Amino acid sequence: MPKQIVISKLGGPEVLEYQNYELSDQINDNEVRIKHTAIGLNYIDTYHRSGIYPLPSDLPVCPGLEATGEIIKIGSKVKDFNIGDRVAYATTPMGAYCEIRDFPNEKLIKIPDNLNNDEVASILLQGMTVEYLFERLYKIKKDEFILFHAAAGGVGLIACQWAHSVGCKMIGTVSNKEKEDLALKYGCQYVINYKEESVPEKVMEITSGQGVPVVYDGVGQQTFDDSIKSLSTRGLMVSFGQSSGMVEEKDLHKTFNPKSLFYTRPTLMHYTLNRNELLNCANKLFKKMHDGEIKTNIYKKYKLKEAKIAHETLQSRKSFGSIILEP
Ligand SMILES: NC(=O)c1ccc[n+]([C@@H]2O[C@H](COP(=O)([O-])OP(=O)(O)OC[C@H]3O[C@@H](n4cnc5c(N)ncnc54)[C@H](OP(=O)(O)O)[C@@H]3O)[C@@H](O)[C@H]2O)c1
Repeated sequence: MPKQIVISKLGGPEVLEYQNYELSDQINDNEVRIKHTAIGLNYIDTYHRSGIYPLPSDLPVCPGLEATGEIIKIGSKVKDFNIGDRVAYATTPMGAYCEIRDFPNEKLIKIPDNLNNDEVASILLQGMTVEYLFERLYKIKKDEFILFHAAAGGVGLIACQWAHSVGCKMIGTVSNKEKEDLALKYGCQYVINYKEESVPEKVMEITSGQGVPVVYDGVGQQTFDDSIKSLSTRGLMVSFGQSSGMVEEKDLHKTFNPKSLFYTRPTLMHYTLNRNELLNCANKLFKKMHDGEIKTNIYKKYKLKEAKIAHETLQSRKSFGSIILEP
């Protein structure tokens, strides 16, 4: 019998249980059956597990939104994929933390020959996020300053490299010296240790008092106010996550009026709305990887049954780069 991780109640990493499950002989017309080779661990999985984000269905559920694998069966209406294809996905329906599953073919991506399955599982969701944040939500530019929080994390190290490839002067925040060195190595131009230094003060020093035109903030509660203070007049606050907790309610006038600021709370799914957008987004990432501008950074590969430890590691702030699970 195949194995999966199941959440039967919301809570800490301890609610992730490793169990057998049954797989039907039947497959839906527009789906393919994938034997997973690697599963991507993302911070959003911890939001689903703890209840910060609502789950798509009643408990119990199998979590996870990203994986790679090989197609072992195809539905009768599937035209673009064949048995044996190496494929990846980084979106709903949830249920990636398992050995084998069925998945809708219109949300599936073929893995380019030059990339291996582990690499792709470690970068697809986080890399596509950087693509829409830097290329479409707000187009970052050569010689322009940007502020990006948690610059040595999974999304962060990809952001360092993407910004460097454009010639953009990324200011990244990190929590310790090791992460500081890593962010700089990956192309971040300036780093601020936000545990020890004032972020707005450092940003104003680096930008000669101007502030940055855009802040990418995936840390949330602990950084929101400093992000607002670091923006230039008419700057854009991109609040794309909350690894430190949900941002508390804000007074809109007091927060945004003093500098006529803009605010957005984006999500990858709304920037990959149809097949065309999805493939363009993934292909831009794959091209950057092919051109050597973006490299993967796998911090650790855990067994699927060690999902609890993997979640603990991600939330401990000890990891850098990406974490994958091996089914
Ligand atoms: N909206 C979207 O489309 C989208 C898509 C993908 C990811 N995201 C978001 O992007 C962010 C980064 O995701 P990721 O998977 O790459 O995670 P990650 O950055 O590898 O891990 C989170 C990092 O947040 C920092 N952090 C600051 N305060 C923290 C706290 N109190 N507890 C835990 N971590 C804290 C830590 O870095 P330091 O030790 O350096 O502080 C930690 O390493 C998350 O908020 C995620 O939800 C959003």
